Amino acid sequence: MDHFEYRTDADGRRTLFAEDCNVAELAKAHGTPCYIYSAATLTRHVKAYLAALGDYPGMICYAVKANSNLAVLNVMARLGIGFDIVSIGELERVLAAGGQADRMVFSGVGKQPHEMRRALEIGVYCFNVESFAELRALADVASSMNKTARVSVRVNPDVDAGTHPYISTGLKENKFGVSFDDARAMYRFAADHSALEVTGIDCHIGSQITQTAPFLDALEKVLAMIDELAAQGISLTHIDLGGGLGVQYTTETPPHPRDYAAAIVKRLQGTGLKLLLEPGRSIAANAGILVTRVEYLKENQGRHFALVDAAMNDLIRPSLYNAHQQIIPVTEPIVDAAEAGRREAEFDIVGPVCESGDFLGKQRRLSLAHGDLLAVRSAGAYGFVMSSNYNTRARAPEIMVSGSQHFVVRQREKIADLFAGEQVLPEQVTLG
Ligand code: LLP
Repeated sequence: MDHFEYRTDADGRRTLFAEDCNVAELAKAHGTPCYIYSAATLTRHVKAYLAALGDYPGMICYAVKANSNLAVLNVMARLGIGFDIVSIGELERVLAAGGQADRMVFSGVGKQPHEMRRALEIGVYCFNVESFAELRALADVASSMNKTARVSVRVNPDVDAGTHPYISTGLKENKFGVSFDDARAMYRFAADHSALEVTGIDCHIGSQITQTAPFLDALEKVLAMIDELAAQGISLTHIDLGGGLGVQYTTETPPHPRDYAAAIVKRLQGTGLKLLLEPGRSIAANAGILVTRVEYLKENQGRHFALVDAAMNDLIRPSLYNAHQQIIPVTEPIVDAAEAGRREAEFDIVGPVCESGDFLGKQRRLSLAHGDLLAVRSAGAYGFVMSSNYNTRARAPEIMVSGSQHFVVRQREKIADLFAGEQVLPEQVTLG
């Protein structure tokens, strides 16, 4: 459930609202393309997770990578949840947004010593360690600071999450995590090292997973490992099952976060293990839309194109994963009106970037005219955060609505800023 819905506007036309804000008016005031997020939708999703945990000891750590705008992070901080970070950049963002260090888990395959140092300085909840080399580096950094690093080893449970290969992470061939064999040796090393404190175990098997079974399979494997470690005198206090719960982009039917978390909690009852989850997409995706404007319509040998002002640099998911996100009119057209240039067809919705792979959607049946506004749905996760300046395009503004109020939570970039940090070679440098 989200808070983007059609309502009838003052002219009697069905038009899209973000909570109580008219999307067409926001687009007029702030220009297109623009991202619009709903604070109430973010809140609803977080609360679904919290309700599912109920009294069971646990911590929801929002995966910052999904959408790291300060306003989004601040909503999470205000709701009292934690954060899953993967870089010092994300760490600083969370602090800037009012998040607490002791509710951060530090994931990621390539943490550098300076990042570890900063995380130890602020006192993160734990490090999710992904290799023996990284564990040794962490031990060295912690020793040099006279600190103890709390660690969890990320195991790779080798389960097939049944999702797109680019976002499947729990298989043997993926770069993530370590095998159970390697984990055993790492736990032994950590248990014996005075600068390390073994606290947990974690896994993350992939993203946009639409069934509960792969999570439960991974859970069984991880629980077996926990028992084995306990028999060796290494007792863990938490289990972190990562993120990965899918959302409905079109016809998928992922389990509700409530049912997903409840199934995990049910299995953990009596184990005494604290449960950590790192959801990203299931909190943010359906809390955001990308609004774009139709610039031109054209037809090439029977194929219809709508050239819009958003492109793959704004939202790369369709180009990169062939992801299907719904594209809907912001204001429903009055189709019988003989409006100049309006055409109904199966359109490829494409941007101005010079790549054939620059599309937001293919063969979408729509009635379009120049100037129409379209909303790409489910764009709140892995949308703006994956945007770029390719083709020297300024990135879109981000707007957050809350009830009838709206706030520009990131301004549109200015062209001059895009090359402000660059310089040309001095004239005295001879060429050729
Ligand atoms: N924890 C870890 C260790 C992760 O690697 C990820 C996502 C998450 C949590 C959050 O997963 P989520 O709940 O959002 O599925 N750019 C891709 C998704 C990449 C996900 C990477 N890791 C996309 O647009 O589909």
